[in-house]
Amino acid sequence: MGMSFTSIAALCILAGMLSIVFCSSYTSALDESALSTFLLTLKGNGPSVWDTVNSSSPCSWDGVNCSNGDVEVIDLSLSGFNLKGTISPTIGTLQSLTKLDLSNNSVRGSIPAELGDCFSLLSINLTSNKLGSSIPSSIGKLPKLEVLDLSQNELEGNIPAELGNITTLQTLNLESNNLTGLIGDAISNLTNLKELFLSQNRLRGPLPTGIASLQKLEKFAAYQNELEGDIPSMSMLPLKEINLASNNLTGPIPANMCRSGKLSILTLDNNKLNGTIPEDLGSCGSLTTLRIKGNSLTGSIPAGIGKLSKLVYFVAEQNMLDGEVPSDISGWENLILLSLADNRLSGSIPSQISMVSSLQELVLSNNQFTGSIPEELVNCKNLSRLHLSGNLLTGPLPSGLCTLQVLESLKLDSNILTSELPHSIGDCGRLLELQLGNNQLNGTIPTEIGNLTMLQISLNLSFNQFTGPIPDSLGKLTKLTSLDLSHNRLTGPIPEALVSMSSLLEWDFSDNLLSGPLPVAMSGPLANSTASNFAGNPGLCGSPLPPCKALKMKGNSHSFWKAAAIAIACVLVLLLIVSAVVIVAMHKHYFRAAVDPGPGVPVSRFFSENVERAVDFGIIKEAISSNANIISTNHFSTIYRVPMPSCSVLAAKKFNSTVAIHQKRIFHELEKLWKFSHENIMQPMGYFLENDLAVILYDFVPTCSLSQKLHRNFESVLPWSSRYRIAVAAAQGLCFIHHSCNPPMMHLDVSSNNIFLGPNHEVKIGDVEVAKLLDPSKHTGSISAVAGSFGYIAPEYAFTMRVTLASNVYSFGVILLELLTGRRPVDESFGEGLDLVRWVYGASARGEMPEQILDARISAQSFASRQEMLAVLKVAVSCTNAAPLQRPRMRKVLEALQTIKLPP
Ligand SMILES: *[C@@H]1O[C@H](CO)[C@@H](O)[C@H](O)[C@H]1NC(C)=O
Ligand SMILES: *[C@@H]1O[C@H](CO)[C@@H](O)[C@H](O)[C@H]1NC(C)=O
Ligand SMILES: *[C@@H]1O[C@H](CO)[C@@H](O)[C@H](O)[C@H]1NC(C)=O
Ligand SMILES: *[C@@H]1O[C@H](CO)[C@@H](O)[C@H](O)[C@H]1NC(C)=O
Ligand SMILES: *[C@@H]1O[C@H](CO)[C@@H](O)[C@H](O)[C@H]1NC(C)=O
Ligand SMILES: *[C@@H]1O[C@H](CO)[C@@H](O)[C@H](O)[C@H]1NC(C)=O
Ligand SMILES: *[C@@H]1O[C@H](CO)[C@@H](O)[C@H](O)[C@H]1NC(C)=O
Ligand SMILES: *[C@@H]1O[C@H](CO)[C@@H](O)[C@H](O)[C@H]1NC(C)=O
Repeated sequence: MGMSFTSIAALCILAGMLSIVFCSSYTSALDESALSTFLLTLKGNGPSVWDTVNSSSPCSWDGVNCSNGDVEVIDLSLSGFNLKGTISPTIGTLQSLTKLDLSNNSVRGSIPAELGDCFSLLSINLTSNKLGSSIPSSIGKLPKLEVLDLSQNELEGNIPAELGNITTLQTLNLESNNLTGLIGDAISNLTNLKELFLSQNRLRGPLPTGIASLQKLEKFAAYQNELEGDIPSMSMLPLKEINLASNNLTGPIPANMCRSGKLSILTLDNNKLNGTIPEDLGSCGSLTTLRIKGNSLTGSIPAGIGKLSKLVYFVAEQNMLDGEVPSDISGWENLILLSLADNRLSGSIPSQISMVSSLQELVLSNNQFTGSIPEELVNCKNLSRLHLSGNLLTGPLPSGLCTLQVLESLKLDSNILTSELPHSIGDCGRLLELQLGNNQLNGTIPTEIGNLTMLQISLNLSFNQFTGPIPDSLGKLTKLTSLDLSHNRLTGPIPEALVSMSSLLEWDFSDNLLSGPLPVAMSGPLANSTASNFAGNPGLCGSPLPPCKALKMKGNSHSFWKAAAIAIACVLVLLLIVSAVVIVAMHKHYFRAAVDPGPGVPVSRFFSENVERAVDFGIIKEAISSNANIISTNHFSTIYRVPMPSCSVLAAKKFNSTVAIHQKRIFHELEKLWKFSHENIMQPMGYFLENDLAVILYDFVPTCSLSQKLHRNFESVLPWSSRYRIAVAAAQGLCFIHHSCNPPMMHLDVSSNNIFLGPNHEVKIGDVEVAKLLDPSKHTGSISAVAGSFGYIAPEYAFTMRVTLASNVYSFGVILLELLTGRRPVDESFGEGLDLVRWVYGASARGEMPEQILDARISAQSFASRQEMLAVLKVAVSCTNAAPLQRPRMRKVLEALQTIKLPP
């Protein structure tokens, strides 16, 4: 009996063990084949980390985590695995899977309905892929799901009501897709939800009132949709962050959003909200960011806001707020940005603002502020932007203004300020922009103004009462693009020194009391002046104004003839000197040609003795014969790195044969060109020619071209701030050759292969000289060689066969698109016959929003950079207009780019 019991027990145990073994081997087999099918479908046809381990069990593959002795897949963490395939429906068999992370890949196709069968899932993260089609409603079946992140894909259709069944859900992120329809009240069933992100879709209609019942909701963002209607009350929720910016929401800002005492970020910019700012926000001590700009808010700023000590950003510009700035702002200990511009605020600027030592930007323009600019403002040592334009401010400029050492933008124009411009203005060494126009400033313009050598955007002193001469020192402002001195009482001549303001694009000297001849030998920037630039100065003369009378006729004829005799004598002496110089020069030339260097000895010329001393031809020739020294290659040339024995390093550019056959011309053109100096242009230091070889030397040694930096740099992604800086610098260089040369010069190969980045972040355009060497007007025969690089060539080139200023603008637009999308100008992935421009223009036909063509690696990083990228995209699109006449000129392009400024 006992015996048989034990044997039965033993049999049972044995059977049990067998069944475990059987079942587990069954499970293992099932999972293994489903898993490898899933993984291989997901991988697509690109290379992947799995290529070397193909034979072993998929449980041992990178990113795969199995348990129970490799019988159950529990975790697939495949973020950033360069996956290019699709999600196989076999995923449905992986029923032990708790975590699926495919984020940051290029997974395409749709999300299979079978995903809803993986009932163990706690977390799904598919962010930053290329998934399309609609969200399967079967996901609503997942009983344990806590995290669902489908953001940054191309999903469309509605948000399925079935998602409302996942009551375990804590995070739902559907941001940056193409979702349409209403948000739907199903969402109100998600009572465990802590984070709800729906921004950047095309969701419309009102916000569901049921949001008020999401008792755990801490973060809610739905910016950039087409939402309308009122914002429901959310007073019972433990909210920390709300961002509903850029919708069409109406009605008031609901009261008591901060009842939980945790609200830190409230962003409601660019809606149609009206009513007043709720009084209770003034007691929301946790608030760090309050952004409500671009609405129709009325009433005054609640007094309590001045006591919020955690407040960092307060932006309420573009509303209809009135009343005064709260008189007690003692709480603002951390405030960095205060922008109340474009309202109807009045009263004085509180002198207490000087206690806010953290303040970096004070923007109060276009209100009705009165009184004087508080002298104490100079205690805000971190102030970089001070904009008080368009108010009714009186009195003098604060005397210690330029003790503000980091001030970059000072706009005090259109007020009633009365004082002289202090000599200390020269101490504002970081200023990029100075706007003082339309005030009642008087006295002379101090020469120290020439110390503001960082000035770039604008110097505007117009419509004041300045007297005395224009200081010569203005000529030191070589980066300045816009100078307005009009409508003052300035006297004397326009100084010759201004010819060195090589970046100037706009200038206005009109309506002053200036006199004398305009600077004549104006090959420089002022050469393109029109008469209107100088109008209203009766004493000025010389082209483009009427010619100066060479000699005054009011004396008697005797003195006239005497003067004439002197003039003739001068001319004769001049002629003698000129012919002497010409003879010497011709002799030199002849001499040089006569001793034509023997074979192997190069003809060379150096513009700097230092370079000449450092150069060793043998070493250069050796360096340019080795591919190892290549820095970059483009349409016309290859740049090599050449280490010299003196330890210095030069860059040597070897022209390819298209250019090299014109080497005789190089003699003549380069001599003129080396003076051609702009910080964003690679300037030749010398050249040498030998047989078929034409080499130019530079002391700027690029580390790489923009093309390499963007497309071949796999370790790090170039951040948006750098891309923006490069775009502006390249625009400055192109603008210079288009608008500051007489006649304007074109570039024959505007491409990212021709924009070079230096070791200290310099940005320089190369191959500018090629335009001179292959002057199209003199070389009509070989013009087809001049087209530029594939993908950058403007469409009209096919008919005109001419490179024009407008076609340069087109090519520059392509570079902007490269910076924005991170894609090459020509790439197979665009499809048959498409280049980057046509791919971008095709976006709306493909139903893609502008956001979707941006380089997601950088556009996803912040709302602010995405906004800037979209603004730059507009510029790029206008540059690449198919009609050349519709494209803006380079100086407009530069201006447009410069107004898209980076936030602090
Ligand atoms: C999804 O993955 C991305 C990238 O790995 C990560 O930044 C994000 O926080 C994840 N989403 C959630 C909701 O955890
Ligand atoms: C899931 O949601 C749908 C629509 O919201 C509903 O009709 C259905 O009954 C729900 N299913 C379960 C199992 O709760
Ligand atoms: C919300 O959940 C209830 C059951 O708890 C269900 O009956 C209802 O259909 C759900 N509502 C929506 C809109 O899904
Ligand atoms: C807001 O509504 C106007 C017209 O009522 C429409 O033109 C605009 O596109 C809407 N804006 C958003 C962000 O939905
Ligand atoms: C806000 O605008 C709505 C119309 O959109 C209007 O009915 C309401 O009276 C306005 N409220 C205030 C306080 O101006
Ligand atoms: C400038 O104006 C102020 C006040 O209007 C006056 O006191 C001062 O004398 C003026 N200075 C000059 C140089 O005209
Ligand atoms: C500022 O300008 C003045 C006059 O133009 C000059 O003497 C002085 O050296 C300059 N200071 C600096 C730091 O450049
Ligand atoms: C976005 O949605 C619209 C309307 O549903 C559709 O026409 C378009 O193709 C969608 N775009 C993408 C990229 O899926």
